[in-house]
Amino acid sequence: MTIKNICCLGAGYVGGPTCSVIALKCPEIKVTVADLSKERIAQWNSDKLPIYEPGLDEVVKTCRGRNLFFSNDISGSILEADLIFISVNTPTKITGNGKGRAADLKYVESAARLIADVAQSNKIVVEKSTVPVRAAESIANILIANQKPGVTYQILSNPEFLAEGTAVTDLLSADRVLIGGEDTKEGRAAVEELCSIYEHWIPRTKIVTMNTWSSELSKLAANAMLAQRISSINSLSAVCEATGADVSEVARAVGLDSRIGSKFLQSSVGFGGSCFQKDILNLVYICECLNLPEVAAYWQQVIDMNEYQKHRFTTKIVESCFNTLSGKKICILGFAFKKNTGDTRESPAIHVAKTLLDEGASIKIYDPKVDKEQIDEDLTNPYVCENPEDFRKRIAIYTDPYAASNGCHAIVVCTEWDEFIHLDYKKIYGNMMKPAYIFDGRKILDHQALINMGYHVQTIGKKL
Ligand code: NAD
Ligand code: UDX
Repeated sequence: MTIKNICCLGAGYVGGPTCSVIALKCPEIKVTVADLSKERIAQWNSDKLPIYEPGLDEVVKTCRGRNLFFSNDISGSILEADLIFISVNTPTKITGNGKGRAADLKYVESAARLIADVAQSNKIVVEKSTVPVRAAESIANILIANQKPGVTYQILSNPEFLAEGTAVTDLLSADRVLIGGEDTKEGRAAVEELCSIYEHWIPRTKIVTMNTWSSELSKLAANAMLAQRISSINSLSAVCEATGADVSEVARAVGLDSRIGSKFLQSSVGFGGSCFQKDILNLVYICECLNLPEVAAYWQQVIDMNEYQKHRFTTKIVESCFNTLSGKKICILGFAFKKNTGDTRESPAIHVAKTLLDEGASIKIYDPKVDKEQIDEDLTNPYVCENPEDFRKRIAIYTDPYAASNGCHAIVVCTEWDEFIHLDYKKIYGNMMKPAYIFDGRKILDHQALINMGYHVQTIGKKL
């Protein structure tokens, strides 16, 4: 079979950009991204895409209507596809067995059931979502139990390693593409079909094939080890603050060792995003189920250290402001979990804002890409607060950083947006309450220059 038609179930942060790049690089293949959400599909078909990713607008504009389509016709898309990516969300379970840790596979299962219902011809089904080890087996069980005569399936694992904010460049020049499949004649043939798609732009040497379970576990392992580096450097930031060492200097010295490398050693208020916490919790749960409590405890510590770091940062804010925030106005610069995205899932800014609100502060928030509705939802949902009306009265959202900081007692930098580096902090100082505080949770500002202007400055991993 030569793949002529691809369908992707799930038009989210992964399905949308991944399939847009496939469509760009494989003009002879028709790619349809299908989703249950009418609103999301309408946005993908509009001028304002549902997600912000540098470079994505151009790719979508080039391909949409040519060989790239966004649709709510999920059954129709499955019917005509030779290869189907499952790229649906796999959140942490919030109720039942494994609640708070295990991955909730209900969307993956519903996608598999739909494929089984609809398919009339042979399909390669590719697990793109991040899943627990052996999830491909569950997908296979559903497909085989409902198999129609003459229809065969091959299930592959092809985890995605893109990071938000750099998704397009990550996809165009991936460090590696990972494909797991069955070691049978049919399995190897399916792996080759998927390889041939990526080979349109990724050198063959960077396409790594392996068994399905290794591929599934590699994705969890990669995220766990990336997050572990951040927790490691954040743990050392506490030592720096207590001793007078500077965590940036320590990170530089350590990272110059080519065996360690310099990436992912940026100490911060803590890691956020939809993946790290969810995937490590999933790994912890798997280890517990496999009766490996020591291994589970080891990885759990990466999450615990991240919670500690967020807590340490907000405690520092409260203690510096005379241990009371009641009636004070605090400006939060940045609400996204990192720069160059509008995504706020697990953003440390949510923890910071909630703590400040709990302490009685009014908060004024500015983020260049996060919508007002999203911030409102993040800070007033029942998991975050008991009295949404009380919180709402004390939250104001701005489209300009100068207006957001006007009249505030303190500024808290929660996201490392480049534009925050270049703000006119002299002008801002003039319009703030005194003493004026800046808490730099991302270590992006020129602290000495701010001190010279009159600010009281605190940051991570350095006593100022
Ligand atoms: P998302 O929530 O942005 O998108 C998932 C989409 O799937 C939603 O639009 C939802 O409506 C849709 N959906 C759910 N069930 C469906 C069904 N049966 N048929 C069609 N559509 C359905 O999620 P995401 O961030 O794109 O993540 C998707 C997967 O990729 C997750 O497993 C995640 O862990 C993994 N992942 C995410 C990233 C990232 O940076 N966000 C990176 C690598 C891997
Ligand atoms: C991550 C993985 O990097 C990616 O490979 C995977 O596919 C999905 O999960 P993402 O969560 O989008 O990507 O962004 P990432 O750049 O990894 O940042 C995650 C969080 O860690 C952010 O809050 C970021 O600010 C923080 N971070 C990152 C640090 O605090 N310090 C660092 O040195 C790097």
